[in-house]
Amino acid sequence: MYLRREVFVFSLFCIFAFSNALVLSNIGINYGRLGNNLPSPYQTIEFLKSMDAGRVKIYDASPEVLKLLSGTRLHVSIMVTNDQISDIASNLTIADQWVQDNVLAYYPNTKIRSILVGNEVLSYDDQKMWADLVPAMQKIKKSLVSHNIHNIKVGTPLAIDVVESIFPPSSGKFKDEISDKVMIPLLKFLNGTKSYFFVDVYPYFTWSENPTNISLDFVLFKDSNQTYNDTGIGLVYTNLLDQMLDSVVFAMRKLGFENIRIGISETGWPNGGDMDETGANTYNAAIYNRNLVRKMTASPAIGTPARPGVVIPTFLFSLYDENQKYGPGTERHWGMLNPNGTPIYELDLTGVRPENDYPQLQEPSNNKPFKGKLWCVVETQVDTEELGPALDFACRLGNGTCDELAPLKSCYQPVSEVAHASYAFSSYWAKFRDRGASCYFNGLAVQTTSDPSHGSCEFPSVTL
Ligand SMILES: *[C@@H]1O[C@H](CO)[C@@H](O)[C@H](O)[C@H]1NC(C)=O
Ligand SMILES: *[C@@H]1O[C@H](CO)[C@@H](O)[C@H](O)[C@H]1NC(C)=O
Ligand SMILES: *[C@@H]1O[C@H](CO)[C@@H](O)[C@H](O)[C@H]1NC(C)=O
Ligand SMILES: *[C@@H]1O[C@H](CO)[C@@H](O)[C@H](O)[C@H]1NC(C)=O
Repeated sequence: MYLRREVFVFSLFCIFAFSNALVLSNIGINYGRLGNNLPSPYQTIEFLKSMDAGRVKIYDASPEVLKLLSGTRLHVSIMVTNDQISDIASNLTIADQWVQDNVLAYYPNTKIRSILVGNEVLSYDDQKMWADLVPAMQKIKKSLVSHNIHNIKVGTPLAIDVVESIFPPSSGKFKDEISDKVMIPLLKFLNGTKSYFFVDVYPYFTWSENPTNISLDFVLFKDSNQTYNDTGIGLVYTNLLDQMLDSVVFAMRKLGFENIRIGISETGWPNGGDMDETGANTYNAAIYNRNLVRKMTASPAIGTPARPGVVIPTFLFSLYDENQKYGPGTERHWGMLNPNGTPIYELDLTGVRPENDYPQLQEPSNNKPFKGKLWCVVETQVDTEELGPALDFACRLGNGTCDELAPLKSCYQPVSEVAHASYAFSSYWAKFRDRGASCYFNGLAVQTTSDPSHGSCEFPSVTL
């Protein structure tokens, strides 16, 4: 999965004016590696150190990464992958072996501090995995205890969609289909082991689904005068993140769990995306993350309205743009650093650098929803050899997606793979966008505002 680079241009841009090497930030960074242009783990750890990151979270237990982290001050969060959960749940010997191979082999020289079992397990419709989640966590914990290891928390990061509603936060409640079956045993486990309820929480997604109804300033922590009142219980919110976190607090409370601490396993803002993705830009990403870091590093701790003064361990998503992720453009644009280590935008993880000390960023043009027509065409730089399968895919779904490409039909000419694929991409995307299709096709496609129709061949468009 990894392309190692022999020679690397290391840049000092990552060393921030306000950094203080003696004090590490308590902010963590998610280090996802689904990219084919990423720096080596060695280089990456150097970057993390120069950013003064206090913690790093990885999506597996990569031996290379864990070896390289040995002797560093970084606290490390490792993950049991979803496909390992059921085996571990079924058999303590397998859990023991996992701990042997992925923890004891590196600990304590590598400062492993949490083991996250699975990733957003409840967002997949897999009843067996749901049932196996807590048993797997229990067995990992039992194995750690049998080795006398008590300072590694066992948790599981869940997406915020486990909660039914965040408006108002006091209405927060876990979805019925998971509440009794998974949440009660999970909360019992977390409470009993004094672990965290880890949640992946993205105000960006909640806002971008409805950008005209929620003020962007409220979401970016920009204006504490804008408030949302949870009148039922007299709590006043000044940002969307607090609302989302407190909806989890209230959901736990409804099941009788008052004191389980919350950790943020992922949060962040995309630095870019497709034309139809409102608000995905470097400016908002910088403001969101800087304000978030200031909030989470403040001393004394700020907490949330339902839990004032409580520290919330927080991992930002993500270190790099990951160009091998599927889906809409934002999926590949959550990064903080370019592949050469220079920052995509500046961010002081200690939270002390004031906003007016940062270089001023240009106001973005896509903070309001795009209005107009969009087409989805072949990206100019692609290898045309790869178009065949993508064209097949776009046409195979039927419903007449590619009827106009047949001989004698309006879009048959010019008979070229690029022309036909562009038509097929536009037609497919126009038809299926409402059902979640994106204009991506493995990186072969791109959105455009310029109408590719020609002669009597009219390209279907998405009208926003
Ligand atoms: C548990 O797994 C171990 C190792 O794979 C195997 O030897 C043992 O038979 C299993 N035990 C049970 C009860 O399935
Ligand atoms: C947007 O806000 C208006 C006014 O508060 C409300 O009537 C409407 O239902 C909201 N729309 C959505 C989709 O939440
Ligand atoms: C909030 O309101 C106070 C008092 O009205 C005002 O001084 C301050 O500038 C306002 N802040 C913002 C960000 O608008
Ligand atoms: C949570 O754990 C504490 C002990 O740490 C215990 O007193 C309390 O009863 C537990 N809560 C629930 C709902 O199980």
